[in-house]
Amino acid sequence: MLGFFIHRFRAFVVAHGGEAAWNQTLADAKSVRDAIPPDQYLPEGESLAILAAGLRACGAPEEDAAPWLESFGRSLAPELVDLGMTWGLCNPRWGAMDYVDHVQHVIHSGFVKLCPSARPPTILSLRYTPAKALVIYRSSRKLCPLVPGIIHGIADGLQERLLIEERRCMLQGDPECWFFVRAAPG
Ligand code: HEM
Repeated sequence: MLGFFIHRFRAFVVAHGGEAAWNQTLADAKSVRDAIPPDQYLPEGESLAILAAGLRACGAPEEDAAPWLESFGRSLAPELVDLGMTWGLCNPRWGAMDYVDHVQHVIHSGFVKLCPSARPPTILSLRYTPAKALVIYRSSRKLCPLVPGIIHGIADGLQERLLIEERRCMLQGDPECWFFVRAAPG
């Protein structure tokens, strides 16, 4: 996984549990890194071990860490958007639903062109009315709570409010996750 994610995750863990929580995270994940370069790739096993250990170090319950991962996604969104703007993969005129529409074919696929070793998830979006979309997430990493987190975080930055309901989930044994996203009334 791109170091940027783990770099930002460090800030999330430190904000919740201080430096001690981050030291605990690295020890639990058996990672000996003293720095996480945002532009380098960390091996998949190590990245996932750091995420799991960090959530534990923050006090997230093992059986239901999803709200914590979602909260991390929400905190990550403004910087992802900045990154997307810097690389010309996002458009300053977009609303939150436009990000949802363009995540696969513009943002993530554009990122793969810039960085061929990247392995972003597959996120398909079906916009069936102007205010409603079905978002389908598939990834061997099964980090599905990040999806509503990132989408809510993008909407927060645009002063928009969306409602997101998960109807299928890889963590419950489904082959993919389905999220229904709609603009909140009012
Ligand atoms: C609707 C908005 C977005 C959603 C729902 C979304 C979702 C995700 C998720 C869940 C991951 C974690 C990896 C996984 O699950 O396998 C991810 C990875 C990633 N996303 Fe997005 N994302 C969005 C917007 C963006 C934007 C604006 C950027 C800016 C360039 C971006 C760049 C990346 C990158 C660089 C990765 C890491 C790829 C890797 O480690 O190989 N995403 N995205």
